[in-house]
Amino acid sequence: MSTTTQKLSSLPLPPGSLGLPIIGESISFLKERNFAAKRQQKYGSIFKTHIFGRPTVVMVGAEANQFLFKNENKYVTSTWPKTTRVLLGPASLSVQIGDFHTSRRKLLFQAFQPRALASYLPTMERITAEYLQQWESSGTLTWYPELRNYTFDIASSLIVGIENGSKTALGKLFEEWGAGLFSLFIPLPGTTFSKALRSRQGLLKLIGQITLKRQQQGNLGEDALGILLQARDEDGNRLSLDELKDQILVLLFAGHETLTSAIASFCLLTAQHPEVLEKIRAEQRQLSVSAPLTMEKLKQMTYLEQVLKEVMRLIPPVGGGFREVIEPFEFNGYFIPKGWIVQYQIIQTHKDREIYQDSESFSPERFAAETTQEKQKAFAYIPFGGGLRECLGKEFARLEMRIFASMLVTNYEWELLPEQNLEMVSIPTPHPRDGLKVKFRRL
Ligand code: HEM
Repeated sequence: MSTTTQKLSSLPLPPGSLGLPIIGESISFLKERNFAAKRQQKYGSIFKTHIFGRPTVVMVGAEANQFLFKNENKYVTSTWPKTTRVLLGPASLSVQIGDFHTSRRKLLFQAFQPRALASYLPTMERITAEYLQQWESSGTLTWYPELRNYTFDIASSLIVGIENGSKTALGKLFEEWGAGLFSLFIPLPGTTFSKALRSRQGLLKLIGQITLKRQQQGNLGEDALGILLQARDEDGNRLSLDELKDQILVLLFAGHETLTSAIASFCLLTAQHPEVLEKIRAEQRQLSVSAPLTMEKLKQMTYLEQVLKEVMRLIPPVGGGFREVIEPFEFNGYFIPKGWIVQYQIIQTHKDREIYQDSESFSPERFAAETTQEKQKAFAYIPFGGGLRECLGKEFARLEMRIFASMLVTNYEWELLPEQNLEMVSIPTPHPRDGLKVKFRRL
């Protein structure tokens, strides 16, 4: 043991319980929505637990986030359970680490540059209009599953050029694959994992066929796949077909459930706060918003932007992120050993009362430019994570949320149906237990 490690290991481990042998506190972690909140109250903003077979330290707050984001690849590195790693595939951006990850991020970012985003706008607008019309003709609907189809249709159209993706083979394979992503790693016939692995093969085949067709036709396309087919890394090399397939899959995956949750939470919170909805509508009127939308117009929707920010503060689609400790370190006087897992906490960071007064209430005004709270501490608002692994699709997500919200509030109204369970379920991402039942009509 080196002297530094000896010195470090003389420090105490964070307080907390490792739970039962082997399973630790995994069941509570999966079942209790306020798992971290309860333990934070008992032990403070850094505590240990044992989940998914690994001793884990949960670190809460802006300083902890900053520390972890700034020490990516030095003390910590991204990690995923084996099932997720295998199903995402060896070349997927999410499982890459170190310099190779940084270089691949740069390459994939070409599909999210401002120019690419502007070219996605008309498709997002068209698909949004189609869904809004469908919902109008339904009258009443369970919105969450509809919103999942909506975000998937946009993703499949803009990422691989498939229209109505949720109703095609792509959608079916994607569902089966997604169902296995966080299942137990049991590579035996008939298990959720094995079914998902088979779907992965189907998805890769499909992406391969689309790619081949484009290459044969000499038209690579202008969607994300088209951009990535033409992109080159720093050494001038193109992505191999195998890598391209994994990267397309991660893009389809990373944005789907997250974006659905954010949009569903917007619908729920604005239905519960008519005064906020009225202010959004007033801004839309004042800006004389009409079709077709433009990037300039969307940028002017500053109140809407505050609302969307507050939606993701209060109900962040991703609750936190996991890292593996690659070099032991000290944080706030505690020893964090090599090989342990660390979790940064988005939910609890967003509830910090020192930063967000009345942190449980929905109050978009807290993000108004003129209030002091906007001059927040760095790393206190992190719905998209931070540092080297910050969400690659952040601007894509912000664009789609604004388009959806603007078109929805300007032309439609919705009302929560009585007698439904609005309690939030957190898996795969937060949504109301009964799927958000509403009455929907044109304004
Ligand atoms: C509201 C919607 C979204 C939220 C809240 C969200 C949140 C996040 C978070 C918290 C991370 C970091 C995870 C970590 O630290 O380990 C992340 C990573 C990522 N996100 Fe998103 N995301 C959203 C939408 C999207 C979309 C639409 C796409 C793509 C179309 C996307 C692509 C990615 C990718 C590729 C990564 C991995 C980045 C890397 O490992 O370098 N996300 N996202």
